[in-house]
Parts: sequence; C-alpha cells; structure tokens
Amino acid sequence: MRFLARLLSVVIPLSLMLGGPSQAREWEVIKSSGTILAATEGGFQPFNYYDGPKLTGFEVDLAEAIAKKLGLKLEWKVVAFDAQLAALKQDRFDFAIASHGYTEERAKSVDFANPHYCTGGQIAAAKDGPLTVASLNGKTVGVQLATTYADAARKIKGLKNVKTYKGDPEAFSALRAKKVDAWISDKFTVKATLDKNPDAGITAGEMVFVERVSMILRKNNKELADKLNQALVEVMKDGTYKALSEKYFKEDISCRS
Ligand code: ARG
Repeated sequence: MRFLARLLSVVIPLSLMLGGPSQAREWEVIKSSGTILAATEGGFQPFNYYDGPKLTGFEVDLAEAIAKKLGLKLEWKVVAFDAQLAALKQDRFDFAIASHGYTEERAKSVDFANPHYCTGGQIAAAKDGPLTVASLNGKTVGVQLATTYADAARKIKGLKNVKTYKGDPEAFSALRAKKVDAWISDKFTVKATLDKNPDAGITAGEMVFVERVSMILRKNNKELADKLNQALVEVMKDGTYKALSEKYFKEDISCRS
C-alpha cells in the first residue's frame, strides 16, 4: 500500500508534467458542476469581440446556445488567441471557441469538434493593391500571430516579410499606417472591419485558402466532444444556428459539403 502511494506520488505529477493521461474535466464532472468553462479571444469580429464592455459575436452567442442545450451555465475565460492551445492543455477551461481552423499540426495536440462554419483567408490592402497572391511578390504582409493566415502567408513565394501582431485589430492598424502592404485574415472579419472603417481606403482582395472552423478541446475527451457535437446538431436543427448566422452575416455560413 505504501509502495503504491509512493509510486503514485511520483507517477501522477510526472504525467501532469508530461501532459500524459488526460486531465481535462470529464463530462460527468462538468455536468454535476452545472457550469461549462469556455475560452474565446474577444478580438475577432464578428465571431468573438467586445461591444463596449460586452463580450459578443456569432461564436459567443452560439456557445451560449450550445450550453443551454446541454443544460449548463457557461462561464467565459478570455484568453489571447496564441495562448489558447497551451492553456487548454493546462485545463484552464473545457473547450475554446475562437475560430480555430482545422490543421494537422493543431490536431496533434488538441481535438476538434465538428465544424461550426466554413470560411477562408482573404487579402486586404489599399485600393491600388497588392490585392492578389501574385502581386504580393516583394511585399510585407501583416497577420495575427499563431493563425492559419500566418502559415499561409509564410508559404507565399517571393514575399518579403510576414509581420505578426497580437490580434487582427493591430494588423489592420498596421495596414492603415502603411507599416505593411497587405493584411490577411478571415473573409468575414475583413468585411466586418472594412464595413466599420469605410474611409480607411482599404479593400478586400483575393482569397488565399479555405478552412473549416471548430471548437477545440483536450485530447481524448470523447464524451465532451460527443456532447458538443450533439448540441451543435440540435441548434442547427431547431433554427437557432440559422438565426444567429443571419444576424451576424445575413447568410448561413455553415459547412454545406
Ligand atoms: N481562423 C484562423 C485560424 O484558425 C484565425 C482564428 C483567429 N481567432 C481569433 N479569435 N482571433 O488560425
């Protein structure tokens, strides 16, 4: 018995350190607590952003609707986008909903729910360009750190430089200030940003890639993944999803494959 206790006292902290067996809250634990913990960023309009002091957006409303289907209260954790994967692995919340596009690299360390929307990365720049991938030759592009836009930008041939920013608002400001020649972000974020800044002289250009966006959760938390997926199906069935999508985008942005 004592040997076992001593063994466990070594093995458990070690497995925590190594990120070994999943420490994420199991569904039963979440359910009996009555509250699910969700992370988002708050700087990615119209998906997750602040309207004055209020955290809002398509993904914020969608997660609230999902929690309601699960019979749970939802508690928000606002976490910088580039810190979310690491924070998830440290169990600081049960899942994140912050427009994570599926990538094989991310899938090595976290699990993805079924996609809650389909979208793509788009170039934005001054009216006289560069507005196409080809015209980015020799140019500098601004992107948010740790995003699929950063990955995509780094693959563009002939690009002079990729500058990374904490968030898209900062990348957009850099573009306006001519610190970068172009900005790559989500096509809906570009649209929302340009709609709010009609006098910026910035316009949307070519699409660079497409992606499927999902909530992310700790690896091997299958029951929670099933519950989130089920609730997503339910909000899609009962019209909640469509109403939210129409509210924020005036169209249905679900993945119709
Ligand atoms: N869709 C992009 C990606 O997967 C960007 C997501 C950025 N999300 C955010 N909340 N700022 O990397």
